[in-house]
Amino acid sequence: MKWHGRCPACGEWNTLAEEVRRESAPAGRARRARGSAALKPIPLSEVQTPASSRLSTGIGELDRVLGGGLVPGSLVLLAGEPGIGKSTIIAAALGNLAAAGRKVLYVSGEESAAQVRLRAARLGEDALAVPTIAETDLDAVLATIDAERPDVCVIDSVQTLNAGELSSVPGSVGQVRQVASRVMDLAKRRDIAVVLVGHVTKEGTIAGPRVLEHTVDCVLQFEGERERTYRTLRAIKNRFGSTNEVGVFEMAERGLVEVEDASSRFVSEATRAPGSIVVCAMEGSRPLLVEVQALVARTEAAPPRRIANGIDRNRLSLLLAVLSRHARLQLGSCDVFVSVVGGVRIEEPGADLGVALAIASAAKGVPARAGGTPLAAFGEVGLTGEIRTVSHADRRLAEAAKFGLADPLHPGTVGTVGEALARAFGPAVAGVVEDFGTAA
Ligand code: TYD
Ligand code: MG
Repeated sequence: MKWHGRCPACGEWNTLAEEVRRESAPAGRARRARGSAALKPIPLSEVQTPASSRLSTGIGELDRVLGGGLVPGSLVLLAGEPGIGKSTIIAAALGNLAAAGRKVLYVSGEESAAQVRLRAARLGEDALAVPTIAETDLDAVLATIDAERPDVCVIDSVQTLNAGELSSVPGSVGQVRQVASRVMDLAKRRDIAVVLVGHVTKEGTIAGPRVLEHTVDCVLQFEGERERTYRTLRAIKNRFGSTNEVGVFEMAERGLVEVEDASSRFVSEATRAPGSIVVCAMEGSRPLLVEVQALVARTEAAPPRRIANGIDRNRLSLLLAVLSRHARLQLGSCDVFVSVVGGVRIEEPGADLGVALAIASAAKGVPARAGGTPLAAFGEVGLTGEIRTVSHADRRLAEAAKFGLADPLHPGTVGTVGEALARAFGPAVAGVVEDFGTAA
């Protein structure tokens, strides 16, 4: 036995995780001594599947992301930054489930029952009816779940529960793993759908949820800026559905509200000022029109700032390089800010063209031309300046047409970034060599 504060393998501090050593059961030992009997493999088509009916949470967007509702006996991890609305959405879901006649249980390790009640009071009658315990001791929680046998149980959060058999603090890697594995044991045995709430910090440095990703059946990520209204819920792993679905929510006075017509909101708010472009993006299998804004400003800072909100920063660097090389737009001495309006994140390459046009528009100080409506665009920008096709072009175009955006620029209409700029700003403006580096 020796004390360790630092991992002897990687040299990092405080990364060691404690694990209990389970004595292998005597039966298992005996069997091993005898040598295991060979099993008979059977074709998958003959495997019996339980006719499990999904439990609807009563929140359409949440059900959709789950792949049609909660699967009985499944383990779902709901991850997100503190304050994003995890407790709010889950409290509302439990209220709906209870109202639909399901047995539910809310385990709060973070807040007292009184605090949970205050939140529920904002959400309405149904949420107030949810049976709740405020407890952090894992054994007590498991005993309660076993005694109550709910259909759906929520543990808020997995980082606050304490497995007494480990001496490490709650929230450490070992604890979180132990809590999850013991909860899962019980959930599978009793066919209880369990939602584990987990906190993720911005940097993703979590002694928590990440280590659970392979254990649980489904990982839902709740994203968005806390200060902004819109939040997105997406599945990053789902054993019972697709990971393409995204739900859009808005935090309101009385809890999270589903935003079903997100496109119309974003489009009606689009400014049409220089630096603004509407991107026909895909959120999973659903088209979404969002406004992308860019700001280009001369700076003394070296290196200049490249700030990306809602798109990948590396993608921004790449687009700046393409603009510089293939559209003669030199922004080497300018700060460039790009932001997707409303706190939405676009992770797909279809946003490239829109972002590039927004930057060009901001740099030139000229709004993009598109009749009387904001200019819409989609398409991936390749390294040679070509505009590449992206998935679901028809759905993106249909969405743009639905909201009256005439003539979006896309891979079917423009071949290169240069062409796109000429179409958006007219050849005279597009052809101007922009070099902020030598301007006074
Ligand atoms: P919360 O669900 O507690 O976040 P998390 O569990 O992810 O940490 O709540 C998030 C924020 O939402 C909180 O700061 C208050 C706000 N809020 C509203 O604006 N309206 C509401 O009806 C509720 C319940 C919360
Ligand atoms: Mg919470």
